Amino acid sequence: MAPRTTFSASATAREGVGRGLPGVVVAHGSLASCTFLGDVDAVAVAVGSPVEGDDELQPRAGTVDASTRYGVDLAELAERASFTGAAGTTHTIDLPRVHVGSGASLPWVDLPHRIVFVGVGRESAGDLRRAGAALARATRGLERVLTPVAASGDVAATRALVEGYLLGAYTPVRLSAQDPAPGPAEQLVLLGDAAQETVDQATQSAWATWLVRDLAATPSNIKSPEWFADRAVDLAQAEGLDVTVLDVPALEDQGFGGVLAVGRGSARPPRLVTVTYTPVEGDGGQHVVLVGKGITYDTGGLSIKPREAMVPMKTDMAGAAVALAAVLGASRAGVRHRVTAVLPLAENHVGGSSFRPGDVLRLYGGTTVEVANTDAEGRLVLADALAYADATLDPDVLVDVATLTGAASVGLGRGHAALFSHDAGLVADVEAAGRETGEPVWHMPLVEDYVSALRSSVADLRHVPTDPQGGGAVTAALFLRAFVGERRWLHLDIAGPARSTSRRHEVPAGATGYGARLVLRFLETLR
Ligand code: BES
Ligand code: MN
Ligand code: ZN
Repeated sequence: MAPRTTFSASATAREGVGRGLPGVVVAHGSLASCTFLGDVDAVAVAVGSPVEGDDELQPRAGTVDASTRYGVDLAELAERASFTGAAGTTHTIDLPRVHVGSGASLPWVDLPHRIVFVGVGRESAGDLRRAGAALARATRGLERVLTPVAASGDVAATRALVEGYLLGAYTPVRLSAQDPAPGPAEQLVLLGDAAQETVDQATQSAWATWLVRDLAATPSNIKSPEWFADRAVDLAQAEGLDVTVLDVPALEDQGFGGVLAVGRGSARPPRLVTVTYTPVEGDGGQHVVLVGKGITYDTGGLSIKPREAMVPMKTDMAGAAVALAAVLGASRAGVRHRVTAVLPLAENHVGGSSFRPGDVLRLYGGTTVEVANTDAEGRLVLADALAYADATLDPDVLVDVATLTGAASVGLGRGHAALFSHDAGLVADVEAAGRETGEPVWHMPLVEDYVSALRSSVADLRHVPTDPQGGGAVTAALFLRAFVGERRWLHLDIAGPARSTSRRHEVPAGATGYGARLVLRFLETLR
């Protein structure tokens, strides 16, 4: 029977932020015996790169079965088209319908006329993620696509292909009534014996990435702190999670001097959102608090940015989006730990009430900070949120995620996040999660010598170094460390990978959603 479900169990009827993803379903069987090929628009088969000692293309999942079914040597067709089988490449053939001379039907009249060769390289998880993304792009505008690629056996292979497919299927929300680009195929059918549960888990984690991309791509004339808080409330309530929002009077009562100062220059006031997931069976679980930088737009404030640096700053809330997506994802995945996301949301703008270089702020808990540069706003809102988490939430593990410093991407480029922590166990766990999800991190040093750069003659701390000495990502991390008490703490500076300038495999141009799957996998695998 043809699988008719259009959307998988994880997806809801929601549109906009938190929207449902295209459906991926498993059908048991093989191309040799499949009875519903007539209901399919395209069949995708795998081709591997040549291996050592054999310079032929390597027909993989389905290519041989499909050759038998179509009565054509498909591997040879791929070879003649100079297809290399490299991961992330595809080659599509559209078979003719009728014999021109006789008008007779050709043997494949009842089979899909479109065959997509999918390069799977060496079939590593990374290769399959790329293959999935390429398949999604090659099948845009179709209704149903069927593939036996990575549909059997290895759980990690299925996860990688489906995640790659759904990440590549992402289409940004267009704020225009004019001809939208064709969306992804409505349904991908995996033909094999993969577990639907594996597919659904991959769909969950791709959903988290889509959510971060959609939030970060939303322009800041729409995305005020209040708008972001409203989305967090909607999503948390839909998931049945506890959510609280602190407005300006509440922030004043509780002493959030950093969030208030940073948000003061904007006509759109700051918020602090807390979303909590408590597992049904929480025995033995830990409490993980995720703090995310939520600057809905970063002009730099009075230390204003030049235009070129300002344009991408609608994504300066990507850390908060990751924290939100991770707590929602943890709930959907039934993670065994309690997870709280703390989102300090503010617009760093220029106005008559802007905070100034030289101001001294009293942050949450009473620490005073001399402001040296209003463009270093992220660490001020994070310091408030970290101190609040330490004082009131009793976390076993404290993780913060932030588009914090241009310096992090100068050092590591646009692929890796900079990771800072003194806790070797946390470092190893996050590194392992990054290897699994294809979101790499690099462990950076918290250089003790640089602490002196944060000394102030008028306050407890100066928030950026007096002399430009380099190591901007390190000094930012050292500043945050002053607010985490004795907690197990890990800081991710995602200024590099949160955005990209061009599409690369499963990573789109613009807001990438980096970190959602990384943090979610970290929560899933934490012992
Ligand atoms: N949001 C920026 C960091 C950033 C830069 C993110 C480029 C993504 C891409 C942050 O608030 C900032 O402006 N940091 C300053 C710190 C400096 C003033 C000490 C920076 O990196 O230049
Ligand atoms: Mn800034
Ligand atoms: Zn910023």
